[in-house]
Amino acid sequence: MLAWIWSRITDPLFGIPMQSSFSFSNFIKVSFPKFSKFQVLVHFGALIPLMLLVMDWFNNNLTVNPIQALQLRTGKYALVLLILSLACTPLNTVFGFRQALKVRRPLGLYAFFYASLHFLIFIGLDYQFNWDLILEATFEKRYALVGFAAGLILLSLAITSTKGWKKRLGKTWSRLHKFVYLAGLLVIVHYVWLVKSDIRIPLLYGALVVILLILRIPVVRRPVSQLKQHHRFVKLRKSLQLGR
Ligand code: HEM
Repeated sequence: MLAWIWSRITDPLFGIPMQSSFSFSNFIKVSFPKFSKFQVLVHFGALIPLMLLVMDWFNNNLTVNPIQALQLRTGKYALVLLILSLACTPLNTVFGFRQALKVRRPLGLYAFFYASLHFLIFIGLDYQFNWDLILEATFEKRYALVGFAAGLILLSLAITSTKGWKKRLGKTWSRLHKFVYLAGLLVIVHYVWLVKSDIRIPLLYGALVVILLILRIPVVRRPVSQLKQHHRFVKLRKSLQLGR
């Protein structure tokens, strides 16, 4: 499954033009996707937590309860990457940062990647693939149930994230992909329910998800982008006046 996610992340169909290519011989042709510096930075940044996890695992540096540490860290990385992918569209509409749109999908897929690790740790390391116990825990612990629901949404979005699915589903595709906000909110509920005492940090993440959701609502988004266009126009007029 993890190999599949990686193939989706580096899939040329998800927005990265396959520009540079070379051939080892006449019959073996290997193509590499051409990344911008920003894209390289994002991919590298998203893989750093994985490198740190692997290093800490091999150095026995994962606290006295390594399984719980892995569980908590992968959950946190998944949530942060999910929020970053949700931030991409507002970064473009509010600040005109167009490059953010190119990394929206990889960030979402990286979030799914860490959520899959999180789930695999839960079923494999924590419950040793004992399906009876896993089912019992999932239905007994309400936070596990909402986490599972969020995971299922992320799975369906990851599967349908290719250009092929976008074409096949037409208008339904964008409607389906709005469910990413529901996934975000479910993860926040998951987090709030599993934290025993201080819920300030989960609520802070929740506030971020809600702000990003509000920025997507047309009545909020339209005036913001109109304001941005007005600022651009004023700037352009000033620079033209200076140039005279
Ligand atoms: C697929 C079903 C899921 C299950 C069974 C599950 C289970 C768990 C468990 C057992 C913990 C640790 C509880 C503890 O030891 O105190 C946890 C924590 C967490 N999970 Fe999940 N989870 C699931 C899905 C998700 C998803 C999809 C995300 C994010 C995209 C997520 C984000 C988190 C976060 C942020 C934490 C808390 C990390 C912290 O306190 O630093 N989980 N989850």
